[in-house]
Amino acid sequence: MKTYGFRGRDFINAELDYTKEEWETLIEVTLDLKKRFLMGDNHAHLLLNKTLFMIFYNQSLRTRNAFETGMTQLGGHGNSLEPGKIYTPALEGEEEAYSTERISDVARVLSRMGHGISIRAYGDPVNWVYGKSNRVINEFAKFSDIPVINMECDKYHPTQALADLATIKEKFGQFKGVKFTMSWAYSSSPHKPRAVPQSLILAPCKMGMDVTFAHPKGFELDPAVIAQCKKWAEENGSQFNMTNSMEESFEDADVVYPKAWCPVNMLSFPEEGKVFDPEAAAKMMDANSSWICDEKKMKLANKNAYYMHCLPADRGMEVSNEVIDGPQSIVFDEAENRMHSIKAILALAMGSRM
Ligand code: CP
Repeated sequence: MKTYGFRGRDFINAELDYTKEEWETLIEVTLDLKKRFLMGDNHAHLLLNKTLFMIFYNQSLRTRNAFETGMTQLGGHGNSLEPGKIYTPALEGEEEAYSTERISDVARVLSRMGHGISIRAYGDPVNWVYGKSNRVINEFAKFSDIPVINMECDKYHPTQALADLATIKEKFGQFKGVKFTMSWAYSSSPHKPRAVPQSLILAPCKMGMDVTFAHPKGFELDPAVIAQCKKWAEENGSQFNMTNSMEESFEDADVVYPKAWCPVNMLSFPEEGKVFDPEAAAKMMDANSSWICDEKKMKLANKNAYYMHCLPADRGMEVSNEVIDGPQSIVFDEAENRMHSIKAILALAMGSRM
């Protein structure tokens, strides 16, 4: 695996593996490709005749269509592979005869045919064993000699982070001094990974924003992610604060990003003897149903604060209709920027130099 430059490089734990300067470049290329798209400028030469294999273990609207449309606009083809319709790619030791195929074999076959592999995997396909789907994606990368892109695992959603940073850059022109709040919000479904909140505190901390992180007790994130956020905030001379109050986290914020994720007891840590307990998880979610982003809470933030969400949002639970459909909401700008940011990653990783 390459650890420098863009061409041929994986985009898996990108919040950690790509430098701040490389993220700046990714954002610049995103906004440049967006401008070209809006101007009707044909850029189909960038990935002419190239193929991306997209493996979705989970459902998707935005990511699937952003990757597929992006490949078309860049002159190539996005080929969607359903794990149940190929032979389900499986880790060594988890194979079933003529039903699965070892990931090392799938990765080498696809590497002989195309130019990139992208994978979404989290939750049920890995029985909510935290870190396992990240391991699945890294196993593909280990055996493939074409770039592997993370379309969301149980730890990170780096293509979402890039779209969101590009959106913030469009709105504020800079990161320094922007007060960003990532808050837990209620949903009746606990089947939500930690990928978005983890990526959406790491990436803003990396870029030097002042980040506040709020959650009810029992909804903590990976301690390694929190430690990294603190380190980057110190290096950047910015803030990283934590609270158990949604209201407190909204005070004076420029951007709020309220989003549901599963409680810690939803995640299985077999090495610690912990078990998967979705019923207890749902009860914990319901006990915190007051964590909704509504107009009253938005009034605590700065007057022109933006409301962000990766979508899909659970209306009436995570957010009120008035907020998500209101003037402070930029959720469709984020969704639009998914395509441009994914095109930037694809063009840089799979394209050729002049
Ligand atoms: N935000 C996001 O990843 O959306 P999808 O689940 O629809 O891809």
